[in-house]
Amino acid sequence: MKVVLAADHAGYALKENIKDLLAEKKIVYEDMGTYDREKSVDYPDLAFQAACAVQRGDFTRGILVCGTGLGMAIVANKLHRIRAAPCNDLYSARYARAHNDVNILTLGARILQTGQAHEIVTIFLETPFEGGRHLLRVEKIKELEKQAQA
Ligand code: RB5
Repeated sequence: MKVVLAADHAGYALKENIKDLLAEKKIVYEDMGTYDREKSVDYPDLAFQAACAVQRGDFTRGILVCGTGLGMAIVANKLHRIRAAPCNDLYSARYARAHNDVNILTLGARILQTGQAHEIVTIFLETPFEGGRHLLRVEKIKELEKQAQA
């Protein structure tokens, strides 16, 4: 398991916090920025860079943080083979993995308390994909990606 992290200015503090959680769990991660709490940055730049790294296979999973988690997910989902979901509750996190085989979690730093975010990250990292009928549905998404390319 190798995780890439990225955040805009709104997500910076939570990203830093999640780094501590990953270190505690002895999970290897790379932080792709932002590295400056004060400077306003554009979430599409950070999301695209990190999602490309997951798409290339450099990382197993990605965790992207902005104010709501929405902008990061919108951008990451532009890339084929990326399934990103904004999960600001535990139930969504569990089923994003179990049913959708999501490879990028996006979080809303302006919505979540730190403890909640840690629980969500833990569920995202530890919940396996159930496969079975859900695999058929994920395969359909991959087929649709091919059609969208044509
Ligand atoms: C930044 O103010 C905010 O718009 C951004 O963090 C995010 O919530 C966008 O989806």
